[in-house]
Amino acid sequence: MTTPSTTDLYREYVMPTYGRFDLSLERGEGTRVWDEAGKEYLDFGAGIAVCSLGHSHPKLAKAISEQAAKLVHTSNLYLTRPQAELAKMIVDLVGLGGKAFFCNSGAEANEGLYKLARKFGSPSGRYEIITFTNSFHGRTLGGISATGQEKVKTGFAPLVEGFVHVPFNDLSAVEAAITPKTVTILLEPVQGEGGINPSTPEFLKGVRALCDKHDLLLMFDEVQCGFGRTGDWCAWRTIASSGVEPDAVSWAKGIANGFPLGALWAGSRNSGPDANGSDRGPLSDLLGPGTHGTTYGGNPLASTAGLTVLRAIGEEGLLENARNLGAYLLMKLEAMNLPAIRSLRGVGLMVGIELNDLDTGGEVGPPAIRITKELMKTGLLVIPSGERTIRLLPPLNITKAEADEALMILKNVLSGV
Ligand SMILES: Cc1ncc(COP(=O)(O)O)c(C=O)c1O
Repeated sequence: MTTPSTTDLYREYVMPTYGRFDLSLERGEGTRVWDEAGKEYLDFGAGIAVCSLGHSHPKLAKAISEQAAKLVHTSNLYLTRPQAELAKMIVDLVGLGGKAFFCNSGAEANEGLYKLARKFGSPSGRYEIITFTNSFHGRTLGGISATGQEKVKTGFAPLVEGFVHVPFNDLSAVEAAITPKTVTILLEPVQGEGGINPSTPEFLKGVRALCDKHDLLLMFDEVQCGFGRTGDWCAWRTIASSGVEPDAVSWAKGIANGFPLGALWAGSRNSGPDANGSDRGPLSDLLGPGTHGTTYGGNPLASTAGLTVLRAIGEEGLLENARNLGAYLLMKLEAMNLPAIRSLRGVGLMVGIELNDLDTGGEVGPPAIRITKELMKTGLLVIPSGERTIRLLPPLNITKAEADEALMILKNVLSGV
């Protein structure tokens, strides 16, 4: 009897929830991964903006294996040192006081934001959250309700009530959408799944001013753009260097390089009175005992992974690298001036290449998928976004030589279509 291939096993036993490429990866090192047949790829997707330190980073491999041999999990009934230290590190990086909460994914971190928003608004009967067209906030029922893309919602009605979507970067649309029920504005400072759409500094400042005027919370979903990807710890500070600070933020993806970990931070602004007029204290204490939780969240293994990744980003100068190499990639792509490219968008190492209608010979399907497959054949992994954008989201520690190699492959493939 022959051993079934990985593709066969997937077809037979794994639910078909993803539009997967037929590529089975076996190992990785730095910016490179190898498939089962031993073919090498330059990984400019990093597991969708996750592997900030690249693959098999020695500091991370060591920290995870040492912690695994010591203590993996305890539940949140007890304290552990790694969670305490990671919380301090995040609060210090944000630099606005407040406290952190840990969970296991981006969608789950955002669920924490929705619950925080509802709890904040409950004494005044406010619960509506304004989010944006082309946003993406995850695949839970709350996440697809928050997401501003119809395609994720089809077949899942009724959705969670209370999400209102308005066009991104359109301040007057936000102002017009505010009602007596509005409690929060939630946005990605750089939309990722929507195709790399940065907010403008004027928009962020305007949204902050509207939140102040109407006593709303400003929440940022930095699941994809946070913790170094834009060249700063906080993506909103890459967009607007001053004058915009959020009340709460969610992260996941790059926080632990692929070890499942999500986080939520809430600031120290006052939460206002409860229904009886008593002061509810700071926002960071609003989700009190019994209001929210998850069994695994922030366990010592996940927290050690997070601490190691964030420390390495600082120690290895990766914020600066992300800024420099992101700007380099964008500059070189612009200079190629290729007819296949309709437009380029980028902040740090989040680069979006929007494609024109292309003739790729035999391949059918949207341009983003066809080009992703062509690049894969040539040994470069990128991430498609919607119908016509491909994203470059490489590890934050890529070298100039790796950037040049990816640029050469992109030039060859995009000139040939
Ligand atoms: C901005 C944003 N928020 C939330 C999510 C959901 O994160 P997860 O897939 O870890 O649940 C994603 C995933 O792509 C994202 O890009």
